[in-house]
Amino acid sequence: MDLMEKIFALAKRRGFIYPGSEIYGGFSGFWDYGPLGVELKNNIKKEWWKSLVYEREDVVGLDSAIIMNPKVWEVSGHVEAFTDPLVECKACHHRFRADKVEANVCPDCGGKLTEPKKFNLLTEVYVGTTEEGKEKAYLRGEITQGVFVNFKNVVDSTRIKIPFGIAQIGKAFRNEITAGNFTFRSREFEQMELEYFVEPEAKEAERMFEFWKNARLNWYISLGMSKINLRFREHEDKERAHYAAKAEDIEYKAPFGWSEFEGIHNRTDYDLTKHNLKYKDDQGKEYTPWVIETSGGVDRAALFFLLNAYHEEKERIILKLHPKLAPYKVAVFPLLANKEELVKKAREVYGGLRKDLFVAWDDRGNIGKRYFAQDEIGTPWCVTVDFTTLGDETVTVRDRDSTKQERVAIDKLAEYFQNKLSI
Ligand code: GAP
Repeated sequence: MDLMEKIFALAKRRGFIYPGSEIYGGFSGFWDYGPLGVELKNNIKKEWWKSLVYEREDVVGLDSAIIMNPKVWEVSGHVEAFTDPLVECKACHHRFRADKVEANVCPDCGGKLTEPKKFNLLTEVYVGTTEEGKEKAYLRGEITQGVFVNFKNVVDSTRIKIPFGIAQIGKAFRNEITAGNFTFRSREFEQMELEYFVEPEAKEAERMFEFWKNARLNWYISLGMSKINLRFREHEDKERAHYAAKAEDIEYKAPFGWSEFEGIHNRTDYDLTKHNLKYKDDQGKEYTPWVIETSGGVDRAALFFLLNAYHEEKERIILKLHPKLAPYKVAVFPLLANKEELVKKAREVYGGLRKDLFVAWDDRGNIGKRYFAQDEIGTPWCVTVDFTTLGDETVTVRDRDSTKQERVAIDKLAEYFQNKLSI
């Protein structure tokens, strides 16, 4: 099995990610997150929000609607230009993205392909209560436009001044020609984006572009992503989106090759000009700000953090997820499930820790098996209540990565884990 197959199998087996609508044969490009997957994704989003909204004075948050007035997408240029080049096999009629196939040959049957034509990625929906009155709208193709259409609302309702940013996390939808590589290219996915507004000067925009590019790379590294698996790649002229004057990707070295993880874009005054929006500073000077954007995929982050964390050591499978991202922070076990006094004490410890942390309980099988099961889902610490506990109110804490064990007093446990998690 290659690494992608191992991650796919583990994700399903342990409740991280399931194929969407699986009992009806699935639905290409759609995925469901299980009990552990939703925790991983929530932890990624929580850390992202903390680093941008809570730790910075110059960034505020937003949660805009998924469906907007269709005029938004006409004005933003997406109806016209949010396209990928599509080719179709003349023999089997399978469709592909022209830039992902080689030598004009169908990857499925070897047949000849048609000339590329533009294929719009926006997903159409119909809104209204009567057949005649139904209006065509779009599921948002990027979460970004919700920020721009609220630019004036945010400026008018807060005390924020340029330079400032608006952060948003939410679902986006693209009718991708070929979804694939597990969740990497989905038709429904989540984005976490910062739109950072600066004065309309190329030098200032360039300075902030470099700042945000490095800040975003360092954020991934601070959460355990290996430096050697990350790199920057600047877009060539022909691959840049219609709104970007400059674009660089943070790429991840995935098993299927270096792949886009997050895009950093200089959108200049493209969007605010299109929406006819301006900013007035304290001196009454009016201008159209430029925008530096950082746009990351939550699903790609979840997939790449899983790939980056996957380790095999002898017969152990370990997800070495950063403790801040791990679904469960701690697992609590009674040494023996059939000793009432051990189970009672362990339930007390479990109940106490659950007040502040997401904690697992396990009393099946032997301790070794329980450790292995927790390693495989990335739980950083396991707590065992044994016979010594009943005498001295201490427990064994076992570390996932080193397997080292130490004894910690029950009344110090919560503080012990909080200290470890604050690093
Ligand atoms: N607002 C700018 C924007 O949307 P993008 O480069 O098209 O830029 C940003 O997308 C990020 O969204 C990508 O770097 C990727 O992480 C994520 N993303 C884009 N398309 C995706 C898809 N089909 N499936 C999963 N994630 C996707």
